[in-house]
Amino acid sequence: MTQEKVRLHRGLRDVYIDRTQSSFIDGKIGKLLYRGYNIDDLAENASFEETIYLLLYSKLPTQSELDAFDADLKANRALPEAIVEIIRLTKDAHPMDVLRTAISATAAYDPDVADNSHEANLRKGVRLTAMAPTIVAAHAQIRNGKDPVEPDLELNHAGNFLYMLFGERPDPRDAALIDKDFVLHAEHGVNASSFGARVAASTQADLHCAVTTGIAVLKGPAHGGAAEEVMKMALEIGNEENAGPYVRNLVEHGGRVMGFGHRVYRAVDPRSVHLRDDARELGERKGQPKWFSILQEVIEIMQPYSRRGICQNVDFFSGAIYYLLDIPDDLFISIFAMGRIPGWTVQVMEQFENNILLRPRLEYTGPMDLEYVKMGDRD
Ligand SMILES: CC(C)(COP(=O)(O)OP(=O)(O)OC[C@H]1O[C@@H](n2cnc3c(N)ncnc32)[C@H](O)[C@@H]1OP(=O)(O)O)[C@@H](O)C(=O)NCCC(=O)NCCS
Repeated sequence: MTQEKVRLHRGLRDVYIDRTQSSFIDGKIGKLLYRGYNIDDLAENASFEETIYLLLYSKLPTQSELDAFDADLKANRALPEAIVEIIRLTKDAHPMDVLRTAISATAAYDPDVADNSHEANLRKGVRLTAMAPTIVAAHAQIRNGKDPVEPDLELNHAGNFLYMLFGERPDPRDAALIDKDFVLHAEHGVNASSFGARVAASTQADLHCAVTTGIAVLKGPAHGGAAEEVMKMALEIGNEENAGPYVRNLVEHGGRVMGFGHRVYRAVDPRSVHLRDDARELGERKGQPKWFSILQEVIEIMQPYSRRGICQNVDFFSGAIYYLLDIPDDLFISIFAMGRIPGWTVQVMEQFENNILLRPRLEYTGPMDLEYVKMGDRD
């Protein structure tokens, strides 16, 4: 029996699976728009709260709309006691495993969980976005033998996260860096984690299932895990002079420089440009300019690879920023996840609006029509 000839699209590279109005990426020139607005303008001018509103409601909010939206987010920060208990029970796991488990468990306490309507998804997206920093910070406290810090309703989303993480009100400049980082991570088309979320939604599973899937897929080092790996690399390099030998040796032995390369961008990821300036300024402010210098040196050494479209991505500088803010390195991916929940939500809402089951195929290359041998007759 012959099989039909198939054309493989391994990794779904350059395959368009649907249409979107959420974000636009021009990978050749390194351009990113959220709902038509350039990421450069949003990074410099918009708060994360404003960006979430833009993504969820497809328009920039007026001041009163933003105030009401912000109040809604704040009202949803607190966790059900059972979720805090789940965090206690799983406290020794990786923070992304705890976040994934806790977000999944919030389904049990969400009155809209099984409602896949647009309105319900807006409400659930707000709740999940609002609770994620509380989960991550509560876990950080609990694993250090402390009680979770209650959310501070006077602080914005980013500032409150740092407050709950460290137990003291943050320097507004530090909070502004995390705010911008959240803006830059909020949405990015059908990347691996959003694709995972869309696959879940395509079966008409609910938003909690889809966001839980997104978190699971984000964890890998080829996706959200790269920021942590970049900072590990910078620490291993140790000083500017070592950067050349270290990177050349890595690449010559077939290794990957973390924070470099991207499936869509063939130019510098525009998000990394904003984080580069932030990493430099923060390093100077904290009296630790060396990490920026090491990373800058890595970029110099990787320059020849830019001709092949291997340039720095969003994760290249974010790890240094988190490190300089004294954030433990195993929390780096969780920060990415906190920023991305609005993106997963809008991708899932788009999937629901014009749903089709996402079910590709695999070309079978194994043996055919083998004769079944009964247990007693096997060698
Ligand atoms: C992001 C990533 C998974 C994209 O992978 P991809 O689109 O499947 O690209 P490929 O794995 O096919 O790589 C294409 C070529 O570029 C090379 N390449 C890609 N990223 C590289 C990197 N970070 N360092 C060195 N070489 C790299 C590959 O070795 C491959 O070379 P080859 O054609 O000679 O075999 C990949 O670039 C990577 O692993 N980067 C490091 C992890 C990272 O920063 N992830 C965060 C992304 S936001």
